[in-house]
Amino acid sequence: MDELDKFIEEGITTEDINKFVHKMTVDAGAYPAPLDYEGFPKSVCTSLNNVVCHGIPDGTVLKSGDILNVDVTTILNGYYSDMSRMYLIGDVSDEAKRLVEVTKECMLAGIKAVSPYTPVSEIGNAINKITDREGYSIIRALSGHGVGLEFHNEPIIEHFRTDRKSMIMVPGMVFTVEPMINEGTFECEVLDDGWTVVTKDGKLSAQWEHTVLVTETGVEIITE
Ligand code: MF3
Ligand code: CO
Ligand code: CO
Repeated sequence: MDELDKFIEEGITTEDINKFVHKMTVDAGAYPAPLDYEGFPKSVCTSLNNVVCHGIPDGTVLKSGDILNVDVTTILNGYYSDMSRMYLIGDVSDEAKRLVEVTKECMLAGIKAVSPYTPVSEIGNAINKITDREGYSIIRALSGHGVGLEFHNEPIIEHFRTDRKSMIMVPGMVFTVEPMINEGTFECEVLDDGWTVVTKDGKLSAQWEHTVLVTETGVEIITE
């Protein structure tokens, strides 16, 4: 992700990012988990502006003002790690920057709520407090997930407030915290390619993701 910070700029394509991530991953002796995962055609997800997640890299050229999520999942020695960050292209509006920053704050607040012997619903409660204050909405159709020997496992990590009974976090659990936060409605839809999730109102969406480990005393971020 740090190398992408240096690589990503106005004028390159999302396919350039795909090639970059693929090569770095393979050179490290690892495998890019998205490639051929349930038919996903590329090695990384690139989700631009109104794309919520699962964007497929293609010939789209990055332009000034864009906000882009790059979601990297790597399999090394049989174990998966899953993380994503936002990248700002050129001159980004204050509004878009605020969404990106608040979404990062949401992820960090969610991670801070991770604690042994408490319900996973504490994560969504913490995130929802921030979006209430900021006037943003939270994607409900997609969640964080257990990760480790498989890509997506229990527990399901919802990023919004819920009264529903949820699983209890216990030491040794590894899962993602990956809130997708929208400027407008939380509603989203999937494009005809079967993957790309976009906001229903065409407004911006942002996402940050870490993989975390529940410990006896709290939480450790393992994708840092
Ligand atoms: N990395 C995504 C997540 O956070 C999943 C991508 S699945 C793919 O769960 F097939 F689109 F790559
Ligand atoms: Co994930
Ligand atoms: Co991910």
